[in-house]
Amino acid sequence: MSSETKSKITGLTSLPTIPVVITKLIGILKNENASINNLVEIIRHDQSITSRIVSIANSPFFGYPGRINSIEQAVLMLGFNLVKSISLSVSIFTMFPIPYIKLKKMWSHAFKVAALSELLSTKISGNNSGVCFLSGLLHDIGRAIFLCLNKINYPPESLENTLQLKSEELFEAEKSLFNCDHAEAGTWFLEELYFPKEIILPVSYHHNLESSALSGTPHRDVILALYLAEGLIEEFEPDSLNDGRFTDTHFTLFKESGFTEKDIERLRENFLLTIETAENFFEL
Ligand SMILES: [Fe+2]
Ligand SMILES: [Fe+2]
Repeated sequence: MSSETKSKITGLTSLPTIPVVITKLIGILKNENASINNLVEIIRHDQSITSRIVSIANSPFFGYPGRINSIEQAVLMLGFNLVKSISLSVSIFTMFPIPYIKLKKMWSHAFKVAALSELLSTKISGNNSGVCFLSGLLHDIGRAIFLCLNKINYPPESLENTLQLKSEELFEAEKSLFNCDHAEAGTWFLEELYFPKEIILPVSYHHNLESSALSGTPHRDVILALYLAEGLIEEFEPDSLNDGRFTDTHFTLFKESGFTEKDIERLRENFLLTIETAENFFEL
């Protein structure tokens, strides 16, 4: 671990550009008594987030294309949890000056893993689907952080070469550049923003999880769902730009969690329906 990299990453959270809206949205995330009105009150002051939420809500994925024209309507149709998760992720990702094409690819992968994690959660005890979706949207935030740090400190081609890598190879390449991997980077960043543990832990373990590590772990359900989702994405979409790899550990954990081959096949069908519009989902 490099304390120099860690301080660069945590330093990102005190940049003057960090939207106040992020801090306020995290407050909503932690407050069980927060109401829809509190949420709308925060988002409506940020024109760019509002317009993104509204355009996302109009995506065919949610079934109301072209019919949502205000944040109030979006909340009404999509629900409190979804709008909260999308607002947080949009505002965090857009903090980083990442080239549009890369940002779009990252969003697309983040959304697919989030959707898959949510689908998986229905069969995992705990069934915390909203948390699975949000941790899925943020799972690779460390990669966005690296792109941002890279722009400042490294020659542009150095990170470029890592974008096609997966899991262990990607971690190795990241460590040689930054002395840490994107799961660690994401963890530090989210900790610095005081995200709740149930969002941070799945991000920390999303490439690395032994089944023994799960016993007695708080938020086991969310950690497991995200880990399985990041692995399964390789099986479901081997050609797309994603960093997951399906390993023996995934196989074991699927079995231990009671998933049959039929369940996986059903998941694939649901997933394919889900991602039909994902490529255009986050038109930033
Ligand atoms: Fe990842
Ligand atoms: Fe990923």
